[in-house]
Amino acid sequence: MVKYLRTQNVDASEVKKLLANLREIANPEAELAAVSARIATCHIRCSHLDHTGYACGEGPLNPVIMFIGESPGRNEAVTHKPFVGPAGQLLESMLQRIGLHRGLVYLTNTVRCFTTNKDRLTPEVAMACRRYLIDEIRIAKPQTVVCLGRFAWESFMQEPHEGRLETLRQQWRNMHLPQNVRMGKLPIAFSYHPSAALRNPEYMRALEKDFDWLGRTLGLVDSAAAAGAAGEYDDEDDDFWD
Ligand code: URA
Repeated sequence: MVKYLRTQNVDASEVKKLLANLREIANPEAELAAVSARIATCHIRCSHLDHTGYACGEGPLNPVIMFIGESPGRNEAVTHKPFVGPAGQLLESMLQRIGLHRGLVYLTNTVRCFTTNKDRLTPEVAMACRRYLIDEIRIAKPQTVVCLGRFAWESFMQEPHEGRLETLRQQWRNMHLPQNVRMGKLPIAFSYHPSAALRNPEYMRALEKDFDWLGRTLGLVDSAAAAGAAGEYDDEDDDFWD
């Protein structure tokens, strides 16, 4: 084929690119690695971020859940891996609660560059990074997506959520993505960001309940046992979300 393309006067670098693309399509792991390489050398340079570090996504193909966080913290910025600091440790303990571990889920972020100032995480910055998330969904093909925190939810859904975040909890919504990204619908759920839970025990309790719900609804834990252990979800418990 290479010879044929050359006889057609196709430029050698174009032939190389074509071949690399063909290899990646046949090999999703290589394609995901290529997304990480693009993040590492991203030239968008959103002007208001620090650019002192970045984190890629990480996880298996066809994971039961893809978790989308906000942006890398200091630990993630240095290791280039998502959720390896305190928020990640909490996320891992929530996964254990429902019989999962981090190797079974896909962990990623809305924004890939580190910033010391979270006010700089704007819809524009999220939009600039969206291409990486969409590529990860197209290639890894998660069965479900869980957005952690308001920024992840609003950025992924591409609309502000006017009401209380509470109203988003413990329900699946279907998202339609372009057909070249995914055929059919993608079930999306919301929960609080683990960093918020580390700061506030009430959010911690909510996060635990949401993971118990995830475990039940995805058939990962025995429904009756999980409901008994966690106490059934009770709206009246949640006035503090106002
Ligand atoms: N917070 C995030 O949103 N993502 C990480 O990877 C770590 C902390």
